[in-house]
Amino acid sequence: MRGVDRKTAVVSGGATIIGEAVVHAFARAGANVVIADIDVEGGSRVADQFDDRVRFVATDLRDDASCEGCIASAVEAYGALNLLVNLAAVYVDDGFDSSRQDWLESFNVNVVGGVMMLKAARPHMQRAGGGAVVNFGSISGKVAQTGRWLYPVSKAAILQLTRNEAMDLAPDGIRVNSVSPGWTWSRVMAELSGNDRAHTDAVGGAFHLFGRVADPEEIARAVLFLCSEEATFITGADLAVDGGYSAMGPERAEPAIPLLAKEERPQ
Ligand SMILES: NC(=O)c1ccc[n+]([C@@H]2O[C@H](COP(=O)([O-])OP(=O)(O)OC[C@H]3O[C@@H](n4cnc5c(N)ncnc54)[C@H](O)[C@@H]3O)[C@@H](O)[C@H]2O)c1
Repeated sequence: MRGVDRKTAVVSGGATIIGEAVVHAFARAGANVVIADIDVEGGSRVADQFDDRVRFVATDLRDDASCEGCIASAVEAYGALNLLVNLAAVYVDDGFDSSRQDWLESFNVNVVGGVMMLKAARPHMQRAGGGAVVNFGSISGKVAQTGRWLYPVSKAAILQLTRNEAMDLAPDGIRVNSVSPGWTWSRVMAELSGNDRAHTDAVGGAFHLFGRVADPEEIARAVLFLCSEEATFITGADLAVDGGYSAMGPERAEPAIPLLAKEERPQ
């Protein structure tokens, strides 16, 4: 992908399956990558697959000094900072019963964490003559899902935040976009399904026009595209990488109008 080679990217949440795919995509495209994650074991495991063009920096997005330290060490290691992917998230969510503390934790990581990373990154992107940011939304930020309040609301906030950031950072030549994945093969899917991809596709496939969930690499390619020179006039946009999930309505992908015909009417 044009324009990513020799750039430096910070990827939060690079320690598990989707984040790891993003790290691989950027490294393959010739970028230097800093993995910013609270998971020391997972982050180190991913970084160890590469030479010193990929580094892990233990980072807690709930802590301003930690965010600033991560960005500073990326610049120290590679001399500049051009790209930021705010992928890390927490799924803490007890719906209606969630406590204030749970709400604050969800927003602290999912929304505010990415903002603080951007605040730390902005001066370096300005110095580099611009940059690109990709925030992670979700299909969950666009529809209601039973029993889930915190995560979907935080993801909806990210879609609005992306527009605000895009507007105010455009004068710096910084583009800000989001991706909204559908169900994606990921740590959560692997854990819940007992590492059974076929079962995950069988359950999640009904909600996506391709009859399966996404591969993490499919999300990673969209992130890479938005950071590349193929996307120089795209900012403030949300890219649905959801296999048609959000194109489908309650009628699903089934002919509903014929059900009105008398002969179809249940007796
Ligand atoms: N899995 C899906 O199907 C799906 C669908 C739509 C959107 N998404 C989005 O994709 C992204 C990745 O999701 P995932 O399912 O791979 O999640 P995951 O839980 O596997 O990974 C999240 C990462 O964030 C890190 N993290 C959590 N708290 C942190 C903190 N305080 N500081 C730094 N890092 C922290 C975790 O250690 C982990 O590595 C998220 O933004 C999620 O909303 C996922």
